Amino acid sequence: MGWFSVAITSISLLCVVSTVSGIGANWGTQASHPLAPETVVRLLRENGIQKVKLFDADYDTLRALGKSNIEVMVGIPNDMLLSMATSMKAAEKWVSKNVSTHISTNNVNIRYVAVGNEPFLQTYNGSFLKTTFPALQNVQSALVKAGLSNQVKVTVPLNADVYESSTGVPSGGDFRADIHDLMLTIVKFLSDSGSPFTVNIYPFISLYSDPNFPVEYAFFDGNATPVNDGGTSYYNMFDANYDTLAYSLQKNGFGNLPIIVGEIGWPTDGDRNANVEYAQRFNQGFMSHISGGKGTPMRPGPIDAYLFSLIDEDSKSIDPGNFERHWGIFTFDGRAKYSLNLGTMNSGVLVEGKNVRYQERKWCVMKSSAKIDDPNVAPSVSYACGLADCTSLGYGTSCGGMDARGNISYALNSYYQRQNQLDSACKFENISTITKTDPSTGTCRFEIMIEPYYGGTEHMVGCPQRLLGLAAGFILFWLTIL
Ligand SMILES: *[C@@H]1O[C@H](CO)[C@@H](O)[C@H](O)[C@H]1NC(C)=O
Ligand SMILES: *[C@@H]1O[C@H](CO)[C@@H](O)[C@H](O)[C@H]1NC(C)=O
Ligand SMILES: *[C@@H]1O[C@H](CO)[C@@H](O)[C@H](O)[C@H]1NC(C)=O
Ligand SMILES: *[C@@H]1O[C@H](CO)[C@@H](O)[C@H](O)[C@H]1NC(C)=O
Repeated sequence: MGWFSVAITSISLLCVVSTVSGIGANWGTQASHPLAPETVVRLLRENGIQKVKLFDADYDTLRALGKSNIEVMVGIPNDMLLSMATSMKAAEKWVSKNVSTHISTNNVNIRYVAVGNEPFLQTYNGSFLKTTFPALQNVQSALVKAGLSNQVKVTVPLNADVYESSTGVPSGGDFRADIHDLMLTIVKFLSDSGSPFTVNIYPFISLYSDPNFPVEYAFFDGNATPVNDGGTSYYNMFDANYDTLAYSLQKNGFGNLPIIVGEIGWPTDGDRNANVEYAQRFNQGFMSHISGGKGTPMRPGPIDAYLFSLIDEDSKSIDPGNFERHWGIFTFDGRAKYSLNLGTMNSGVLVEGKNVRYQERKWCVMKSSAKIDDPNVAPSVSYACGLADCTSLGYGTSCGGMDARGNISYALNSYYQRQNQLDSACKFENISTITKTDPSTGTCRFEIMIEPYYGGTEHMVGCPQRLLGLAAGFILFWLTIL
């Protein structure tokens, strides 16, 4: 074989290895103290996670993913759909800056663009019904124009409520009546452009919103009373839900459209059903369930899925519930919350974040001399909780078992840590004090934040953001005292 045929063989081998199997993870960044992107990328690599789904196209995040060879799904947030839908120029700019550049100069393995995130959720009241499809079209055209449409596929991560079953079993599946035509337009477009359908499936939410939901049906242990669908038994909600989508697609002529599970997971705090035990049981159960590659009754074969989520995000909106900030398999600072075998490593255990730098070991708590009925208590707690994170307080949560003083201290400390331990952030009149003794008890952790991440600076030619910030601070300072 001459060098030429060797080269050709190598190239065709490379082309065969198109999509990696194995589990993916969602990497969200709505955190007050996010880990440095390099730390997260290392975390992904050391845990053998080869696919990552993002919610935006943050420069530093993508740069850190460069050369890692991890497959990346970048995201266009819902609030950008209008501009993508109405301006081809905007879509082209987005693709040029947030896809092309990263592929060509940073070597990022971008494979998908997620256009919007669950844009048809009923809570959005239809706000994105008109813009999602035109945005999808424009982004696809921009990818074609950039010469990337073979390697980068568009998709729309949708909530599982875009389909339903009139009979209550998977075979009755079809798209929701009020968006049926729109869904077909989108599905046809995805099919024509060789793109997958992306759906987020959440047995936890079913359990959370329906007190009569059979708990065992959320898990994969086969302990639930099966749902019988014309002779096929469904032992867990995931299979049934996934197949309801498979039937919806088939019924409308798209039985072969690939499906990606964009989000699947279980939170560990913020609700009585959100705990480490259930999260471990669900995620491990899911991993084992899909590991053999046997798929679901309707779709035998490997399941392409992204865990939600990699790390906790303490700044997420808690409108859907207090559990929102606790989806991570890792804590905000990269510690494993429970044992989980992702099937990607020989060791079978999670590898934790490395080189994480913490702030000082000190906490803000309620003074022992302060009285519970001090009039400053209530406003202080509500102020602290409003600006920090009290989602671990409440019935059945990790800090739910504390007494009133514990509750108050937890709130004050959360605010103090969020404010990077500023002295002024522990000056709740007459009631607070700083201590060096860890007030954590049992399952309740009084967190200390990590050193704030200020953003990479390499790509900013000239004046790094941090210096600009400092300069602005100085100018303000002088203006104030003059
Ligand atoms: C690229 O993505 C970032 C992050 O999502 C966004 O802020 C920016 O506006 C995008 N760039 C363009 C040109 O649309
Ligand atoms: C949706 O409508 C409800 C009731 O009209 C309103 O309370 C809510 O704020 C709306 N949500 C959005 C995202 O517009
Ligand atoms: C502590 O706070 C939790 C959550 O707000 C509440 O359910 C509990 O009753 C409080 N405990 C005391 C003793 O006040
Ligand atoms: C704090 O305590 C002092 C002494 O008991 C009292 O005079 C003062 O009014 C208190 N401050 C507030 C804001 O309650």
